[in-house]
Amino acid sequence: MTKILVTGATGNIGRKTLQQLLKRLPASNLVGLARDSAKAADLAAAGIEIRKGDYFDHDGLVRTFQGIDKLMLVSATAFTDRNTQHQNAISAARQAGVKHIVYMPIIHEAGSVFTLPDITGQDLFVEDKLKASGLAYTLVGHPPFIESIPFYIGGNALETGVHAPSGAGKAGYASRDDLAEAHSVVLSEDGHEYKTYSLYGDPAVSFADVAQILSDISAKPVRFVSVSDQDYIAHLVAAGLPEQAARFALVWVQGINAGEWGGTAGDLEKLLGRKPTTAAEFLRANYAVRQT
Ligand SMILES: NC(=O)c1ccc[n+]([C@@H]2O[C@H](COP(=O)([O-])OP(=O)(O)OC[C@H]3O[C@@H](n4cnc5c(N)ncnc54)[C@H](OP(=O)(O)O)[C@@H]3O)[C@@H](O)[C@H]2O)c1
Repeated sequence: MTKILVTGATGNIGRKTLQQLLKRLPASNLVGLARDSAKAADLAAAGIEIRKGDYFDHDGLVRTFQGIDKLMLVSATAFTDRNTQHQNAISAARQAGVKHIVYMPIIHEAGSVFTLPDITGQDLFVEDKLKASGLAYTLVGHPPFIESIPFYIGGNALETGVHAPSGAGKAGYASRDDLAEAHSVVLSEDGHEYKTYSLYGDPAVSFADVAQILSDISAKPVRFVSVSDQDYIAHLVAAGLPEQAARFALVWVQGINAGEWGGTAGDLEKLLGRKPTTAAEFLRANYAVRQT
């Protein structure tokens, strides 16, 4: 019996990946890693074994990964010494006899010079470590989460318009649910070893497109308001975001505007065997509720 461990079981992606795996495999095949097991009580109640572990505790991870065949390594949080955490997880997996690691970098198109601070370099570090590890690996590249759109456009966009620095780029956002389901396919099937997927949603949309979609949803004009980088940060801060988060959002938006996540879609749809959730579907589901 193949044992699959998913890290970050108490977070969005890890929990959703385990929930999707439960639809495909018996709970006895599944293990979740949590820093605080109590936060994964729902998964334990569904029959999934929860093991305690922290990316910073290498030796603890070696013990935790015993008997595991496949490991889904949920990427560590930005600005928390990701290299040490990822290195510990990969090294511990090797020592514990794990055979296959699935990792979720942010998509970085070949030849791109765009970088996300504390993300791009650290993802490439993982890729290098996996290639050198001798283990089988799969890279399930993530675009920006579709759930981040409200974070990027800030505040009540239906009332104030979509404020963003202008750019022609479009992003193939994907929902966490679809990404997690794709993970579950890769983890539960054979044949994904040494593959790299770009899990783009489809169609890709620009911020001007988002304004147009919101106009259609609300049946009133929602303007796209082109703002300077400084005014963008000020707008997000005024909407309640801490300045550091607003600055980080700006870098993502600059990448979107530069076309960093406008690559070829298809991998996500193939893995899911259906069309992924579109930005328009997501916005309709979220902003229609907010109007009432
Ligand atoms: N594609 C995108 O647009 C995008 C946007 C933001 C982030 N991301 C990346 O995607 C990852 C997953 O997203 P998410 O929404 O699932 O994040 P999340 O809900 O914050 O979940 C992060 C998970 O990682 C766990 N974790 C954090 N530090 C750890 C450590 N030292 N040792 C073991 N586990 C640790 C957390 O455990 P606790 O519950 O104990 O904190 C939590 O279970 C993020 O961590 C980030 O790298 C992607």
